[in-house]
Amino acid sequence: MAAESLVAHRGRILHCLGDPGEEADPAAVEYFSDGVLMVDAGRIVDLGPAASVLPKYPGDVTLTEHRGNLLIPGMIDCHVHYPQIDIIASCGDQLLDWLNHYTFPVESRFDDSDEALSVAEFFLDELLRNGTTTALVFATVHPQSVDAIFAAALKRNMRLAAGKVLMDRNCPEALQDDAASAYRDSRELLERWHGQGRLHYAITPRFAPTCSDAQLAAAGKLAAEFPETLVHTHLAENIDEVAWVADLFPASRSYLDVYKQAGLLRERSVFAHCLHLDEQDYVDLAAAGGAMAFCPTSNLFLGSGLFDLARARGHRIRVGLGTDVGGGTSLGMLRTMSEAYKVLQLNRQTLSSYRALFLVTLGAAEALYMDDRIGNFALGKDADFITLNYDSTPLMQRRLEHAEELTEELFVLIMLGDDRAISAAYVMGELAYSKE
Ligand code: GUN
Ligand code: ZN
Repeated sequence: MAAESLVAHRGRILHCLGDPGEEADPAAVEYFSDGVLMVDAGRIVDLGPAASVLPKYPGDVTLTEHRGNLLIPGMIDCHVHYPQIDIIASCGDQLLDWLNHYTFPVESRFDDSDEALSVAEFFLDELLRNGTTTALVFATVHPQSVDAIFAAALKRNMRLAAGKVLMDRNCPEALQDDAASAYRDSRELLERWHGQGRLHYAITPRFAPTCSDAQLAAAGKLAAEFPETLVHTHLAENIDEVAWVADLFPASRSYLDVYKQAGLLRERSVFAHCLHLDEQDYVDLAAAGGAMAFCPTSNLFLGSGLFDLARARGHRIRVGLGTDVGGGTSLGMLRTMSEAYKVLQLNRQTLSSYRALFLVTLGAAEALYMDDRIGNFALGKDADFITLNYDSTPLMQRRLEHAEELTEELFVLIMLGDDRAISAAYVMGELAYSKE
């Protein structure tokens, strides 16, 4: 191994080996108070206490000191809409009115490639500034909106999944495609982008109400032809939406069953929200290997409901956290974790700090079926990681003086932290964002 390509990152290092659960099982995490993460050519090649790792390598190995900062895997956002950046924090509506008043008008701008690219660039820079190195992203109905987000992600060498939104009814005409063009455009885009760099294609029917039977069938056909792609949609977010789906699809047993019948429930299918499901839905989702994106800031902001994490994990369903911006109110996963804790409190559940970390790293990677490449510091994985500082505000600094254990420290960091706590983000071992 050529010493000049090796970089040792030294700091406090924490990552998950499994789901620590509500009880914060210490065996599900690995922590080194003075650790070294050794990176070579963008991959993790060694990890352990500095005292035992460093002596194994030549004395002239490049050493990056993170000086007491906490080094964790890059965070993963399992559900976000990049075109909705400009309508974040729009007041007053629940889902269906919010879509009509704010979302559809802003998305109609993305037929303009220049606009799409400039929003995509801003969006990805904001993700990195917030410590997010991977995301599963909605574009708009316009193919050029997908080209824009993929081009911007490729430039940053980010692992990112996205897709063209499919919507052929119950929305403004200017935003409608049709079943045939949805299939053709999606196929063309996935053949162009999937597997380029670190990019993944996601077949993206917006949600059942805006997709005809023919369009859902076309999406299902594509999902069967390209099993390595993701499927990304919304499910059972809002009570009025669920009632509407029951009216539109009288032959389906449930909202999830609409997708199941169309062939859209499979491994690598990611469903945002999943708030109003019945027992059979949980069983079906688990059996198929589908995943849920839990989007707490959005669920509170749009008044949609409370996610049942204990039930989902009880069924061993893959779950990751999503910001769901513009329905969500922060692009930061720290804020998102802290709101997840509060949602679960209202459901008489709790969220340990270790499990919160799992839901934005390894658990999220499992939800996206990317855990062979990202999510923790297993040897051979991509070196996507971030560093967090403990003194980003006077209050955080003061509170942490009274923290006794790692779980408590991490909990305080999550509850009080935001983008100011992110010192740096590394993508494939390269510095992609630095606060300094
Ligand atoms: N359901 C259908 N479209 C959307 C969207 O853009 N945001 C959210 N939160 N839910 C949706
Ligand atoms: Zn959404």
